Amino acid sequence: MLLNAIIVVLLVLESVTVTVAQSFNVTTPVFWQNTTITTPVTARIKTAEIAFQPIFDNLVNQTSNSVEFKDNPLEFSMPGTFFWELALFDYLTNQTTYRDKVQSYFASVAKDNPDFTDLYIDTALVYGYAAMQAHRAYGDSLYLQYAENSWAFGWNWTIKSADVQAGSFPGMNWTIPPQCSFGTIAGGTFWQAQGLGNTYINALATGAFFVLSALLAEATSNQTYMEAAQSTFTFFTSVLISDGIVRDGIPGNSCGQGGNAYPYNSGLVMEGMAILNSLQPLSNVYSLYNIISAATNATMFWQPESAHRIIVSDAGPSAYGHPTGGGDIHLIRGIMAVHTRTVDPLLQNYTASYLAIQVQ
Ligand SMILES: *[C@@H]1O[C@H](CO)[C@@H](O)[C@H](O)[C@H]1NC(C)=O
Ligand SMILES: *[C@@H]1O[C@H](CO)[C@@H](O)[C@H](O)[C@H]1NC(C)=O
Ligand SMILES: *[C@@H]1O[C@H](CO)[C@@H](O)[C@H](O)[C@H]1NC(C)=O
Ligand SMILES: *[C@@H]1O[C@H](CO)[C@@H](O)[C@H](O)[C@H]1NC(C)=O
Ligand SMILES: *[C@@H]1O[C@H](CO)[C@@H](O)[C@H](O)[C@H]1NC(C)=O
Ligand SMILES: *[C@@H]1O[C@H](CO)[C@@H](O)[C@H](O)[C@H]1NC(C)=O
Ligand SMILES: *[C@@H]1O[C@H](CO)[C@@H](O)[C@H](O)[C@H]1NC(C)=O
Ligand SMILES: *[C@@H]1O[C@H](CO)[C@@H](O)[C@H](O)[C@H]1NC(C)=O
Ligand SMILES: *[C@@H]1O[C@H](CO)[C@@H](O)[C@H](O)[C@H]1NC(C)=O
Repeated sequence: MLLNAIIVVLLVLESVTVTVAQSFNVTTPVFWQNTTITTPVTARIKTAEIAFQPIFDNLVNQTSNSVEFKDNPLEFSMPGTFFWELALFDYLTNQTTYRDKVQSYFASVAKDNPDFTDLYIDTALVYGYAAMQAHRAYGDSLYLQYAENSWAFGWNWTIKSADVQAGSFPGMNWTIPPQCSFGTIAGGTFWQAQGLGNTYINALATGAFFVLSALLAEATSNQTYMEAAQSTFTFFTSVLISDGIVRDGIPGNSCGQGGNAYPYNSGLVMEGMAILNSLQPLSNVYSLYNIISAATNATMFWQPESAHRIIVSDAGPSAYGHPTGGGDIHLIRGIMAVHTRTVDPLLQNYTASYLAIQVQ
């Protein structure tokens, strides 16, 4: 699916909302080329509409309990991803073109799965994110309810301080270390929703929960969501981030740090931090800048010369933006959130330039 393309086409339309006190000081690498989008907005909107069409054509099943695509019928994250892209398109273009479709798709899934649960927490939380996008686009309070249901599922699989104190997580058979050199694992979200030997806590699930908590804090002013967002953020900064690199995850029963770095991990952390920073300025906004610099660093990681600096994920084949492991939509989401939620001119130039390259 042409997911990345659609979003990149749209991003430059969104407006800017919040100020940062400290400035970004990394200049765009000299070898970034064609860093401005020259296509007019109307043409970009048309391109996005055309890109949606094959996805509609690919939709084979909208039954009372599912929305499925023929190219990947079992991948629960795909419909949710499509919902938020439709809603975001409408939001950015000030239209309600897809309003009824989004509503009926959501209703199909919610009918049998009102909390949008799945074995993989990050996949499940795509629906909470999509609901927040739909809520912003259409203002319907039903979407806030969907998002809160989705959040409750993520919360159930997130480690609380009380779990660390108790030394165990409900339903699991291993011991949570009371203290590691980096602090505690409170605030981490499990990769999978299952009991007993389930130990892996990862950036993808924690990041999805971070973003959803921050969006709900923004939309509802309910302190519960703000506290959840801050707790996941603390987990990231103490456990998974070093030198701007976001590691994949840790087994909760050890104090090990690490895992590989993938673009979706950096993307989700960036998005959550950009939202959090716009609600309550981060004490050290350079921690966000470091992640941006590292994730977009053209000389390492994901934007190789051979691909003309366009994202090529080093993750294996996955649903996270590309069925065979190509681009990564989470990184685009993260850079977009930074772009639209800050007004630092150098940072905006940097994010706009990076995104423009992705449209080439
Ligand atoms: C930049 O744009 C020029 C002119 O359109 C084109 O010839 C060139 O291939 C582009 N470079 C990259 C890296 O896409
Ligand atoms: C459509 O969904 C129904 C009900 O879940 C299922 O029985 C059927 O196999 C699905 N059809 C396709 C083509 O996926
Ligand atoms: C949508 O509305 C906003 C606010 O009025 C405006 O800034 C923006 O340019 C509009 N977008 C489009 C694509 O018309
Ligand atoms: C969360 O956990 C509680 C307690 O086990 C359970 O009653 C509730 O149904 C769960 N909610 C979701 C959305 O999974
Ligand atoms: C926990 O349960 C899993 C699955 O039954 C098992 O493989 C594992 O050895 C158990 N771990 C402990 C610490 O008891
Ligand atoms: C805030 O959100 C939590 C979690 O969804 C909920 O339990 C609580 O009732 C909410 N508080 C208010 C005042 O709405
Ligand atoms: C530039 O930013 C880095 C962090 O990204 C910070 O450590 C450094 O102090 C900044 N330099 C100046 C001159 O502001
Ligand atoms: C990008 O990576 C190169 C090679 O590791 C490093 O020398 C450079 O400092 C990095 N730049 C940024 C902005 O992180
Ligand atoms: C970023 O700044 C450079 C230098 O001022 C300028 O040439 C370029 O057009 C700017 N790019 C964007 C996307 O604003």
